[in-house]
Amino acid sequence: MSTLEIRDLQVSVKLPEGELKPILAGVDLTVKAGETHAIMGPNGSGKSTLAYSIAGHPKYEITGGSVTLDGVDVHELSVDERARAGLFLAMQYPVEVPGVSVANFLRTAKTAIDGEAPKLRTWAGELRGAMEKLQMDPAFAQRNVNEGFSGGEKKRHEIMQLELLKPKIAILDETDSGLDIDALRIVSEGVNRVRATGETGFLLITHYTRILRYIKPDFVHVFVGGKIVEEGGPELAERLEVEGYEKFLTRA
Ligand SMILES: Nc1ncnc2c1ncn2[C@@H]1O[C@H](COP(=O)(O)OP(=O)(O)O)[C@@H](O)[C@H]1O
Ligand SMILES: [Mg+2]
Repeated sequence: MSTLEIRDLQVSVKLPEGELKPILAGVDLTVKAGETHAIMGPNGSGKSTLAYSIAGHPKYEITGGSVTLDGVDVHELSVDERARAGLFLAMQYPVEVPGVSVANFLRTAKTAIDGEAPKLRTWAGELRGAMEKLQMDPAFAQRNVNEGFSGGEKKRHEIMQLELLKPKIAILDETDSGLDIDALRIVSEGVNRVRATGETGFLLITHYTRILRYIKPDFVHVFVGGKIVEEGGPELAERLEVEGYEKFLTRA
């Protein structure tokens, strides 16, 4: 069973002039396979910075602390090595990849992560099944990745990758934003199918509590000013729903 350990993580964003702007101010968090952790915080608190720095985005520089996956220092690994090690990031703003079809993209990703190409006979069915479960038109397989996709279609495509790649640790950055109520339910059901295997640990980043009605977190962490300022169980999300972030903002 896998464990992601984040210890006193400090991260700065590299500004175009070459300066460093500190964003994460010492984050401590442990995520184990089978657990779901919700990270909730207002806009600009550094949630995406946390996600990107774990995934290895070159714009973010680790200035202190560590991130390890099963004892291996993640920052020693390139971005694709991190993916092969079992880290997965569903981005807040998924990028378009012109000229690469969804079918090709997924097959290439699956091959890279498993170390061998999926069996041709079973793969087509697996892909079709994943699309059906997420209520995606089969025609999507031939479209270019995210090109002209609506916000909801992009998020379904992210969850389709999650279901096909079966990562050890999945970071979902505002997968709920921009979804209508049906899409939110469909996407949440996809996440819950992967959760049910007990083999993936989830870091669910959001600033609304509504996705947590569908995906019940085991732990809730309030994230303000680049760090965790409060932790608890699912009841903390309910408190946030009523009280908002204001109390934590003034404290930070
Ligand atoms: N490339 C960047 N250049 C300048 N500031 C940035 C950059 N990326 C992030 N920031 C700043 O870092 C802070 C945290 O951003 P972010 O991690 O996206 O927050 P969240 O996801 O919680 O809304 C914000 O104040 C944001 O403006
Ligand atoms: Mg964000």
